[in-house]
Amino acid sequence: MDTLQGMTRDAHCGELRVKDVDKEITLCGWVSRRRDHGGLIFVDLRDRSGLVQIVFDAAAMGEEAFHKAESIRSEFVLAVIGKVRARTEDTVNKNMETGEIEVVISELRILNKAKTPPFYIQDGIDVDETVRMRYRYLDLRRPEMQQNLILRHKVAKVMRDFFDAHGFLEIETPMLCKSTPEGARDFLVPSRLNPGEFYALPQSPQIFKQILQVAGFEKYFQIVRCFRDEDLRADRQPEFTQLDIEMSFMSEEEILTLMEEMIKDLFDKTLGKKVETPLRRMTWDDAMDNYGSDKPDLRFDMKLMDISEYVTGSEFKVFNDVLANKGQVKCIKVDGYANIPRRELDSLVEFVKIYGAKGLAWIQYAEEGVKSPFKKFYSDEVFEKIKEATGSKTGDLLLVVADKRLTVAAALGALRVEMAKRRNLIDPDKLNFLWIVDFPMYEYSEEEKRWKAMHHPFTAPREEDEQYLLTDPERVKAKAYDMVLNGVEIGGGSLRIYQADLQEKVFESLGLSKEEAHNKFGFMMDAFEYGTPPHGGIAFGLDRLIMIMAKRNSIRDVIAFPKNQSARDVMSDAPSTTTEKQLQELSIRTALKKKS
Ligand code: AMO
Ligand code: AMP
Repeated sequence: MDTLQGMTRDAHCGELRVKDVDKEITLCGWVSRRRDHGGLIFVDLRDRSGLVQIVFDAAAMGEEAFHKAESIRSEFVLAVIGKVRARTEDTVNKNMETGEIEVVISELRILNKAKTPPFYIQDGIDVDETVRMRYRYLDLRRPEMQQNLILRHKVAKVMRDFFDAHGFLEIETPMLCKSTPEGARDFLVPSRLNPGEFYALPQSPQIFKQILQVAGFEKYFQIVRCFRDEDLRADRQPEFTQLDIEMSFMSEEEILTLMEEMIKDLFDKTLGKKVETPLRRMTWDDAMDNYGSDKPDLRFDMKLMDISEYVTGSEFKVFNDVLANKGQVKCIKVDGYANIPRRELDSLVEFVKIYGAKGLAWIQYAEEGVKSPFKKFYSDEVFEKIKEATGSKTGDLLLVVADKRLTVAAALGALRVEMAKRRNLIDPDKLNFLWIVDFPMYEYSEEEKRWKAMHHPFTAPREEDEQYLLTDPERVKAKAYDMVLNGVEIGGGSLRIYQADLQEKVFESLGLSKEEAHNKFGFMMDAFEYGTPPHGGIAFGLDRLIMIMAKRNSIRDVIAFPKNQSARDVMSDAPSTTTEKQLQELSIRTALKKKS
């Protein structure tokens, strides 16, 4: 094998252009593709900057050197010296950025060989993700993956510059800490020096960033890893990155405006896209009632419409029961889809059940007349009224769910997005930002039969609602806000409670006794007694934001080494069992039998 000794790389594959013709250059990189034409071998050489075609010509470089070139295979690592030349008109490759030139090689060094990779190192491959993750180093060699991580680097850089310019300080907070209050399960780390005791990995730096406000830093930010032991989805990882922000003496209005400026700056400097500000704002109630979601995708319309008033007082038990229990009958309209196949309707019934709906009904305004599972319970006039009220035309389809408000929202909200995807109603080039504001302070947990904080327990209630904290939690709204982009929650934050008595009252409303609250957050409550400024903040999900910027469907594509759906790193095979000795040192005994 050859070495690099005495050779100095002085050019990058993807950057060569016509202006470089006749230059003698030294390139290093991997063999992407190789075509052998007898006395001529063409190789696409790849480095991080892109690809360039290099040419080995037996006549020009001599038999011996050419013989070496014949041994080159995919993913071999090469260093070459050659001269850039313009391609003839008929050999120009318009699909390649460097397609107008090629490099004729005079010296070849093979720096390393490579096994045949398990998949092609190129964009747009259709390979099982497990295989891609098992060989992540090869997956990451693909240009599109490299672009994702390059974008990620740029995003972080622009954010740091922005906050630096606005007087914010990046301050690190601990990874080994006490449990934090974001409401997911903690990852625990046993303490060898304190047998039987555990640190939690932070679900976010929430408490520390608030304490930094007590400490007088005024403007804090951090690009920081957070850990949450949740069930995974395309936009959820057990460890993920936040752009975390907290500031003192600022109003909600000032915080939202500053964040809009940051987003504007970010999209301009990384993608060259102009974001119109101020961003649209929508209350949580409007979002739920009109779009069935607290993160509505407004790239398409398809609002939820209430048809309760037209279907009351009939013999149809399903609607009657729901309406008698203060429920709703709502629908979405799918334009021009009255002739939806029966099989698809059946699959939609199963679809809404995932979201807790008990069933799905429909009205097909077909050419040959109205079709609906509840047709026999209503007069033609009722169907005409619904048609008019929903702005339906002959040929349109209404999908109807009857249930409690939030179940209708969940089912139709999800169905709305599903139908938009199936009917191709979403423009992938659109960026739709909005703020959701006026969140409820609490949400009811059916599982635990109690009110829980919708955001976290340090979120401030609206002043005018403080009186209802203990008596009517349902009507209390919080000073909380989420930023939504294309139907994904990319950030969330709030103004915080900074008065001890109000904080105690909120803990009480959450069913946390003084003692419990003190056990969990005592150090924070202590700190708050030494002069706490009014403060608030927000955290953005960096992975999610970059996923959308890079037009990917999964945050795994913008994280160098992600976990799979079972929270495993399939490349290094973590998590894994450990030795008895290690467990003993940590005073830990597992209750599980060893896997054989
Ligand atoms: P929240 O819990 O809303 O707020 O988190 C902020 C943002 O982080 C992203 N996010 C995730 N991304 C990937 N995988 C996950 N498992 C995951 N969980 C959350 C989302 C979300 O909007 N401390 C508060 C912020 C504050 O109040 O300032 C917090 O963590 O994009
Ligand atoms: P059932 O009386 O359960 O056979 O339902 C009669 C029709 O009403 C069927 O087409 C169901 O799919 C529909 N249906 C049942 N429950 C609901 C519901 N919660 N919302 C809308 N339609 C429903």
